[in-house]
Order: sequence, then C-alpha cells, then structure tokens
Amino acid sequence: MGSSFSCCSSEKVEQGLTLGGESKSSPWRIFTYKELHAATNGFGEDYKLGEGGFGSVYWGKTSDGLQIAVKKLKSMNSKAEMEFAVEVEVLGRVRHKNLLGLRGYCAGNDQRLIVYDYMPNLSLLSHLHGQFAAEVQLDWKKRMKIALGSAEGLLYLHHEVTPHIIHRDIKASNVLLDSNFEPLVADFGFAKLIPEGVSHMTTRVKGTLGYLAPEYAMWGKVSESCDVYSFGILLLEIVTGRKPIEKLPGGIKRTITEWAEPYITKGRIKDVVDPKLRGNFDENQLIQTINVAALCVQNEADKRPTMKEVVALLKGKAFNDKGSNMRIKSVKYGEDLMALDQESDDEDGKNGYEDESSVYGVFGALETQRMQDPYRHYGNRR
Ligand SMILES: Nc1ncnc2c1ncn2[C@@H]1O[C@H](COP(=O)(O)OP(=O)(O)OP(=O)(O)O)[C@@H](O)[C@H]1O
Ligand SMILES: [Mg+2]
Repeated sequence: MGSSFSCCSSEKVEQGLTLGGESKSSPWRIFTYKELHAATNGFGEDYKLGEGGFGSVYWGKTSDGLQIAVKKLKSMNSKAEMEFAVEVEVLGRVRHKNLLGLRGYCAGNDQRLIVYDYMPNLSLLSHLHGQFAAEVQLDWKKRMKIALGSAEGLLYLHHEVTPHIIHRDIKASNVLLDSNFEPLVADFGFAKLIPEGVSHMTTRVKGTLGYLAPEYAMWGKVSESCDVYSFGILLLEIVTGRKPIEKLPGGIKRTITEWAEPYITKGRIKDVVDPKLRGNFDENQLIQTINVAALCVQNEADKRPTMKEVVALLKGKAFNDKGSNMRIKSVKYGEDLMALDQESDDEDGKNGYEDESSVYGVFGALETQRMQDPYRHYGNRR
C-alpha cells in the first residue's frame, strides 16, 4: 500500500521554505509509505515511542542512516490528501531552533504520516515524570535553558510566522530535547491537520487538562494567551517537578497552581523548588521564573503577558506594565472535567493508553456542561 504524493513538487516546497522567515536549506521531502514502513520495522511495537491524541509515534532509521520519529495519524482524523499536504507544507515552512520542524510527510490512500527528526533525549515529560526522572539529568541550568528556549519557540509562532500560529497543546510531552538538552517545541499547528469542526473532538484530555486556560477549557475561546497560560503551567512544572494535576490519596485531584498558591502567598518561594535539585538553584532566577509563571496563569486572559514579554522577563529584563505578580490565584477545574483527566488516573496502575471508547472530546464534554449550567464548572473559587 501507500504512495508518494505527487501534487506537491519539490519546487513548490522549496518556494514555501523561503517564505518562512528563518529559512535554512530544506531538509524537507516527501516520503513513500514503503520507505517509512521499512524504517520503522513495519511500525513495530518495539519501535513505538508513544501514543498521543492524534496517533502513534515510531522511532525509525532511513536507508541513509537518519534517525526519525514517524507520527502515524489515525485515519479517522485525516483530511483529504490534497488539503493535508497543503497544511503540512505550511507547517514545514516554520523553522526555528526551538521548534521541531518537519522532515516530511507521506499521504496516500488512507495513510497520513508526518516525519520529524528523532530527539535522543525524548521529551521534557520523560525527564520530569517518566523513564529518565530517577536519573535527574535536568539540573537548574538545563531547566532554565528549557524554559527560555521553549518560550522563544512560542514567541516565534505567535509573533514572527505569518499567519501566526497558536499552538493549543503546550505541555511537557510536546517539548522535546536534543542531545544538548536544547528544547524543541513539537506539534504546533496540529489542530489544522484535522478536519474543521471536529478537531476538538479528537484531542484527549489525557495529560492536557492541567495546562488548559480556563476560558479555553470552558468556552473553547482560543487565542495566543491560551498558550501563555499553558506555558505558565509548564514553567511551574519545570521548577517544581510536579505534575499539572496530581492525584492525592483518597482520589482527590489537585492542580499545580492550587499546590503552589499557599507557598507563594506566604513568600516561601524556595519551598516550591523540586527537591531533586537538592537546593542547587539560582535564587534570583527562581523568583523571576515564579513571577513570570504567576503572570501567565492569571485567570483573566488580557492580564497575561505576551510571549514577547515572557521572553524578556525570563531574560531578566525589567518588569513592564503588566507588573510583578507574586501571587498565584489557582484555577479549580470542575469535578466533571477533573474526572476526564486520565493522566493522573494512570498512576493507579493503568497502562497509560486508552482504548477508543475512552476518547473524549474536550469540548464535546464541555458542550453538555455548558448547556446544563454555564458557571457551575468554572471559576476562581476564592
Ligand atoms: N521527534 C521525536 N523524538 C522523540 N520522541 C518523540 C518525538 N516526537 C514525539 N515523541 C514522543 O512520542 C510520544 C508520543 O507523542 P505524541 O505527540 O503522539 O503524543 P503526546 O505529545 O503525548 O500528545 P499530543 O498528541 O497532544 O501531542 C511522546 O512521548 C513524545 O514525547
Ligand atoms: Mg506530542
């Protein structure tokens, strides 16, 4: 099966790349299904790096020795071949040192595959909470580099690419780490690869709920500031080593902002730092980072800084008119939403993958809630 896709000549792709701002010589190409099948040992289970909301990701090696990660999209989400190719080409143009650029794609018959460079240090998630967590390779300096680099990648998407791209899914598994622990933000613009109107139905709550800005979780209101909110949660996660939502004994779930809020209010900033760092951190940077996180996770979207401001603040520039905000007002998601969060449930010994019956559309679920009572599930409850 499979095919190479012929409508997009390499000439067209080259043209696209030169439009993308920081263009480099094109690493972009169209792969055949046969090639990707061979590179991943027939999409073998042993080669699987993981599974997300859009499909599975496999490690592979091309015949010329390049290590790749191949995302095999679930066919039910696929756009028409032509439309998909156009969208992927647009994303393929986006080049920045902190964005995981596309190596190429394959579209044919029912298959939609996207090819990236393989990132040997996997994701930030794997270092904070996954298979590398015990090794504590992420010292303070690396964490700060990851925070700033991810912010710069996002700044590029929000302010430098035309048209601007809202990521919508900033989280630790979408921050990949190269061999030098330079962060590369992955999966930007992904919502555009799936058909209009149903994109929200395909995104699972798993591992994502804790990052969602309240106005996005409740009303589906998307803007750059939703990414800023998610980035604020990511900053808290990087500094504290805690998950965005954790499950307490007795089954109660707590968000990272609820956890951090009392420490920050009482000025006990040093107590939020990941104990795995054994006190090795820069206090000024800590204060700066928590301050930025607090600004980003404000409930009111228009009070949050832009990513330009975030980058400036993380670089230690003076605070602007958005000011300093050494308080965190935690968002408490409604219980119904919390029940949909499967990431923290996985700690109970589930295998981490859901079957199709447990695929929830975030806003599909929210639609129902909204009809019942628009205010019941959202709010700053203090
Ligand atoms: N280029 C890559 N190199 C190494 N690991 C990767 C690469 N791309 C993805 N992964 C890892 O593969 C796993 C699955 O990725 P995938 O993007 O499908 O899911 P996700 O990031 O958990 O959720 P989402 O679908 O919302 O992005 C993740 O752990 C991710 O970090
Ligand atoms: Mg991902």
